[in-house]
Amino acid sequence: MKRRDVLKLGLLAGAAAAVPAERLTGAFAQRAVAAGPPVQLFDTPLVVPPVLKPKYSIAGTDYYDVTIKPAVQEILPGLRTPIWGYDGIFPGPTIKTRRNRPIVVRQRNKLPGESAVHLHGANVPSSSDGLPGDEIAPGKDRFYLYPNRQQATTLWYHDHVHHHEAFNTYQGLTGLYLITDPAEDKLGLPSGKYDVPLVIQDRSFNADGTFRIPDPGAGEFFGEVAVVNGKPHPFLQVEQRRYRFRLLNGSSLDTLHELTLGSGDGFHVIGTDGGLLPAPVPVTKLPLAPSERAEVVIDFSRYPVGSHVVLNSSIFGAPMQIMRFDVRKATGPNHRLPSKLVPIQRLKESQAKVRRDFQLNLDKARGEMVINGKTFDPDRIDIKPKLGATEVWTIFNAETPDLPIPHVFHTHLVRFQILDRNGVPPAPFESGWKDSVTVMPGEKVRIIMRFGDFPGRFLYHCHLLGHADAGMMATMLVTP
Ligand code: C2O
Ligand code: CU
Ligand code: CU
Repeated sequence: MKRRDVLKLGLLAGAAAAVPAERLTGAFAQRAVAAGPPVQLFDTPLVVPPVLKPKYSIAGTDYYDVTIKPAVQEILPGLRTPIWGYDGIFPGPTIKTRRNRPIVVRQRNKLPGESAVHLHGANVPSSSDGLPGDEIAPGKDRFYLYPNRQQATTLWYHDHVHHHEAFNTYQGLTGLYLITDPAEDKLGLPSGKYDVPLVIQDRSFNADGTFRIPDPGAGEFFGEVAVVNGKPHPFLQVEQRRYRFRLLNGSSLDTLHELTLGSGDGFHVIGTDGGLLPAPVPVTKLPLAPSERAEVVIDFSRYPVGSHVVLNSSIFGAPMQIMRFDVRKATGPNHRLPSKLVPIQRLKESQAKVRRDFQLNLDKARGEMVINGKTFDPDRIDIKPKLGATEVWTIFNAETPDLPIPHVFHTHLVRFQILDRNGVPPAPFESGWKDSVTVMPGEKVRIIMRFGDFPGRFLYHCHLLGHADAGMMATMLVTP
């Protein structure tokens, strides 16, 4: 991708946040008429990405084979969209694994350029993290080892080639990775066809169906079409019962969602990035920033047969109708919602011997995104946490009111707990295990984490991928 495009992607958030909501909404309304092909709401059935089968299993390890390649997919009805996909599909196949059962994924790169695969939220050896320097050249392959030494949760894998992350993931290189475990099994949560992943992404299209990168200069700050599991504004027939939805905001741009149900009713959050919460948390509104996951339970037994319930979002005040649930009669008994889920061991500030400060901002003079004044350099080590150490990090979004850009801070390898936001403890729905956290302009978010199990190089960065591309990324060397 050209340097100009990199910057264009990087500046999307800034531009979006700087525009009053009414104007933003107006711009979208106009654009929907002026540009891309018309998209019918709730016309396409939701599909669930296929679950990948291991090629073989030896000595308790499953071996998978994936090919990263260009393909053509029907996303908008009747149009053909060239994509890049894991196994040629967008989103890629779901990998389903079990806690403590290692797997090896062989990734073959059949793209015209380099690729690097990162398993987001995973506790993995550095050599399998998809780091700069470990890219897969076109025509080559690489074996990624995932030990799965972590509790049940919803992870995702995506491309991580520096300067190309936003573009490569926008082309389609994203997929889900689920870990299950006995603690989760015991809960009796909705399962099978009542456990549905929803990978929410935004896209913009040209009239011929090809993907188009939004142009902030023309008042476009993210794609105006919501695709869920690769389908535009789909519908899903649901029974009058509880469903578990695994929500992933897999957006490549700066699409900070705030989700609500069109009925105005509440639902329960049962899990966050790193696993299940101690107990379900009732909410009516759920912010979901790019790369964040939230597992929710929605009870459709309260709606009459034939009801339509829309999943809405608001992005910087601009409304988006993401998908629709169409309620039908239940075919069996309802799952109950347990009152307790999985206990969380709270990390205590008193255990932290190391404190670090990170300041995130756009360096306007250089046109680069920086952490503590520095743009990403793969040859520089920025910090050296010790294996086993507990640390408290303060993330400060230093953007100013003239260009109020949000950031989404993400750590590789370690998950964390949020201590506070501007001194205020986090809302219950985000008090579980996290690996990404939104930090709004002027905000200070303090997080606490403990390093383990793997030493070596890992990254931390803003997960508005245009910002990471534009330099808002750094390297930690975890030392024994
Ligand atoms: Cu989704 Cu470097 O991360
Ligand atoms: Cu990651
Ligand atoms: Cu950012």
